[in-house]
Amino acid sequence: MRELHLGDKTVPAIGLGTWHMGNSTATRAKEIKAIQAGIDAGATVIDTAEMYGNGRSESLVGEAIANIDREKLFLIDKVLPSNASADRMSHSLDTSLKLLGTDYVDLYLYHWRGAVPLSETVETLQSLQQQGKIKHWGVSNFDLPDMKELLALPGGDQVAANEDLYNLGSRGIEYSLLPWQRKQGIPLIAYTPVAAGDERGQLINNPAVKEVAEAHQATPWQILLAWAIRDGSTLAIPQSGDPKHAVDNIKAASLTLNEDDLAKIDKAFPKPTSKQPLDIR
Ligand SMILES: NC(=O)c1ccc[n+]([C@@H]2O[C@H](COP(=O)([O-])OP(=O)(O)OC[C@H]3O[C@@H](n4cnc5c(N)ncnc54)[C@H](OP(=O)(O)O)[C@@H]3O)[C@@H](O)[C@H]2O)c1
Repeated sequence: MRELHLGDKTVPAIGLGTWHMGNSTATRAKEIKAIQAGIDAGATVIDTAEMYGNGRSESLVGEAIANIDREKLFLIDKVLPSNASADRMSHSLDTSLKLLGTDYVDLYLYHWRGAVPLSETVETLQSLQQQGKIKHWGVSNFDLPDMKELLALPGGDQVAANEDLYNLGSRGIEYSLLPWQRKQGIPLIAYTPVAAGDERGQLINNPAVKEVAEAHQATPWQILLAWAIRDGSTLAIPQSGDPKHAVDNIKAASLTLNEDDLAKIDKAFPKPTSKQPLDIR
């Protein structure tokens, strides 16, 4: 299974996203099973946020992991920009910890940039880290200028990851952000890695993706994921409320695409040749 270094741990390169989960009582039991099936299949990372369903996703995760050894999990949570200040972040984190049923998160991300000065957010994250409530901190939806600004701040170089949208249909960050992050040793967390269910089938029905999938006896979804994590310093966090999909997704961390596969995929979905605006969702 492909792994990467995140914070001070080595984790499987595919984890479990949870946006839109926990919102409906009709699907709750199945969603809990999906998270547990993903963990049984080898996942250790779960990505959530206080924003997701106003805490309902965190609460669902808390229920799903209640009987699982906490030390075996790597929990990622995110603070909203409106709560990313010295006077609000600690309260936000305490609420998240309560809903998750834990006394620390492994990685706490600044969800996206807002009005609070970046230096204040970084200082507050560092203070929560010193208190042991978060093991590491990171950012999300940061482009290259944001990352450079961050690294120029005191302690900014302690950023453990940047979580951005990345999938075969959205390769813009490969132009300058990703090469820079690799040079700095800052992992990417790839969100929306299966293009939010690829509504129009542009990725999963693409002939090159299908051909590579057949060659590996895999599904096109698994190829999208194996492609996203191919560099060894990217974590992909597909979301699924379906136990079978969740297991298939985690298994994709055991697929390795060869040079021919990657060339076929590059031909169908070319690398960016100029700077693109950062995609967000
Ligand atoms: N930091 C940020 O700003 C940010 C923004 C967006 C997302 N995220 C994180 O990234 C996670 C993933 O992104 P996302 O939820 O936007 O999109 P995604 O993971 O690309 O797509 C989720 C959709 O794909 C379907 N799916 C997943 N695996 C499948 C499979 N093997 N076969 C068939 N369908 C499959 C799911 O349906 P089923 O439930 O039916 O499987 C769901 O509808 C989020 O849940 C969240 O944790 C972070």
